[in-house]
Amino acid sequence: MNDWIKHSKNYLDTEKLGIEFSKTIPIGSIIALNGNLGSGKTTFVKGVLKGFNYDGEVTSPTYTLINEYEAKYRIIHIDCFREKNIDRWLNIGLIDYFTNENILFIEWPNHIKNILFSRKIIELNFEIKDLNERLICMREIESYE
Ligand SMILES: Nc1ncnc2c1ncn2[C@@H]1O[C@H](COP(=O)(O)OP(=O)(O)OP(=O)(O)O)[C@@H](O)[C@H]1O
Ligand SMILES: [Mg+2]
Repeated sequence: MNDWIKHSKNYLDTEKLGIEFSKTIPIGSIIALNGNLGSGKTTFVKGVLKGFNYDGEVTSPTYTLINEYEAKYRIIHIDCFREKNIDRWLNIGLIDYFTNENILFIEWPNHIKNILFSRKIIELNFEIKDLNERLICMREIESYE
């Protein structure tokens, strides 16, 4: 995968970028989504699920912590914003989701740094430029730290 930087002018642009991105994701990927509240992380994942022909409802995992979707592949969408306790994540069985059959999206990955440490990940950064403008950058990291 080649690193990229893209500009989104509105919600639909971000969804479209998610759809495009879905065509490039290797199965088994762990994708870390960084960016402030409301920067478009969940919107992007909604696009990815559209790209994988998922036609059910896609919601934010803010309160559920983990959402699972049976799309073209099994997509796992995790939000660590409200749970910073690593032991709780381990007890929930987070590690079991790290398999070659899933594609994992993790919002607020910095809360579970110890679990991601030294794994190969794809990182997406979302920056709020203006009310409806976002800058989205993708890069691959061989060993997360
Ligand atoms: N260009 C844009 N891309 C994405 N969302 C946008 C854009 N412009 C405005 N928005 C609005 O910003 C919000 C993005 O919400 P979203 O849930 O995707 O953010 P998030 O990064 O997942 O936040 P959180 O950390 O709270 O989960 C939505 O209300 C959306 O309508
Ligand atoms: Mg979100």
